Amino acid sequence: MPRTLREVVFVDGVRTPFGKAGEKGIYAQTRADDLVIKCIRELLDRHPELPKERVDEVAVAATTQIGDQGLTLGRLAALLSGLPNTVPGYSVDRMCAGAMTAVTNVSSAIAFGSADIAIAGGVEHMGRHPMGEGVDPNPRIISEGLVDESALVMGATAENLHDRFPQLTKERSDAYAVNSQAKLAKAYEDGKIQPDLVSVATRHAEKGWGLASVDEPPRPGTDMEMLAGLKTPFRPHGKVTAGNSAGLNDGATACILAAEDVATELGLPVKMRLVSYAFVGVEPEVMGIGPVPAAEKALAQAGLSIDDIGLFDLNEAFAVQVVAFLDHFGIPDDSPKVNKYGGAIATGHPLASSAVRLMIQLARQFEENPDIRYGMNAMCIGIGMGGAVIWENPHHKDYGKDA
Ligand SMILES: CC(C)(COP(=O)(O)OP(=O)(O)OC[C@H]1O[C@@H](n2cnc3c(N)ncnc32)[C@H](O)[C@@H]1OP(=O)(O)O)[C@@H](O)C(=O)NCCC(=O)NCCS
Repeated sequence: MPRTLREVVFVDGVRTPFGKAGEKGIYAQTRADDLVIKCIRELLDRHPELPKERVDEVAVAATTQIGDQGLTLGRLAALLSGLPNTVPGYSVDRMCAGAMTAVTNVSSAIAFGSADIAIAGGVEHMGRHPMGEGVDPNPRIISEGLVDESALVMGATAENLHDRFPQLTKERSDAYAVNSQAKLAKAYEDGKIQPDLVSVATRHAEKGWGLASVDEPPRPGTDMEMLAGLKTPFRPHGKVTAGNSAGLNDGATACILAAEDVATELGLPVKMRLVSYAFVGVEPEVMGIGPVPAAEKALAQAGLSIDDIGLFDLNEAFAVQVVAFLDHFGIPDDSPKVNKYGGAIATGHPLASSAVRLMIQLARQFEENPDIRYGMNAMCIGIGMGGAVIWENPHHKDYGKDA
């Protein structure tokens, strides 16, 4: 039977407020799975036009897949979210790009015709599951020289990036970080972040009940002087600090993807159309450069150039890796096209969940900028990878013309 690929659209996405990992954080005594379940339930509540039994797949990413992030979380989260038991689910791990991979996997299934509608997202509770918990990497990866030892510590790979590109100074990284904090503060002030947040009831044995309704990590008012004096935990006299890195965080995200014709049939909104996506590998010790070749590959697949991209929502694992990306493409560090609502340095980066936050924010910016046709999400990924996704703005006058 001849096969026709279908267009895939991003219907809607939500996320929990992000918390600081650790005993003092808002989610210290909240289960990880409950965070992502809350997001899925919220999506279903926000879209009563979507019959629950029409969801064909639930893909949930987590980097550490044990405890309350284990046991095929996608399936368990589907059941616990009130989806019928006929809806399958699975878990995904591609470190920081877990949710990006969940989105692209289910999108490919939709394009291929094996699913009509899917939910994708991610969760990372870095307080309950610190980075590297329970891992046992094969020692041959170091002893046979496949990767440099520094490749296993993300902050050390960011220092390596500063070494490799001396024009990426600490001052540039700090200035980028200051700007990220300021942009997020402004976005909150303008009410751009709140509509996509789902408040989470929290409990704590000593503090009692609470309601998480805004991100906990932001440090509005951060300036260059404050950042200049911070310690460099990954190297003595290094350049990477707590101020120009994303922190250690807890949070979850989820979104609905659908075949374009099915979205029309059910009256689901269309916030973005998937144009192309790519994942690539790079030297693990400079994993932060990954978004560069990933973006180039996704652009080539789409037949677009970097100048066609009017909005970027990029993950900010470390300021230096975003600045390396911008430097490569000749985009100014403070370009208004980039991370309009700030980024992970300010909001936090609960690893596997983050990509859907980038997508949610890009979708909002599309609404506000009908003159911009294409946008990109990109992120670096541990063990030396990069991921990039290009989306089209349905509000643009030429939307879908070449699809
Ligand atoms: C960088 C890192 C080690 C810092 O961890 P930490 O020491 O627990 O961070 P803190 O939030 O306690 O900040 C450390 C200090 O910097 C200060 N600080 C952090 N951000 C600041 C800011 N924007 N302005 C002013 N001070 C700041 C804190 O107040 C704290 O000061 P103190 O030591 O006097 O209390 C940690 O956030 C990290 O590992 N980040 C990277 C995560 C990662 O690898 N993710 C995956 C990416 S691929």
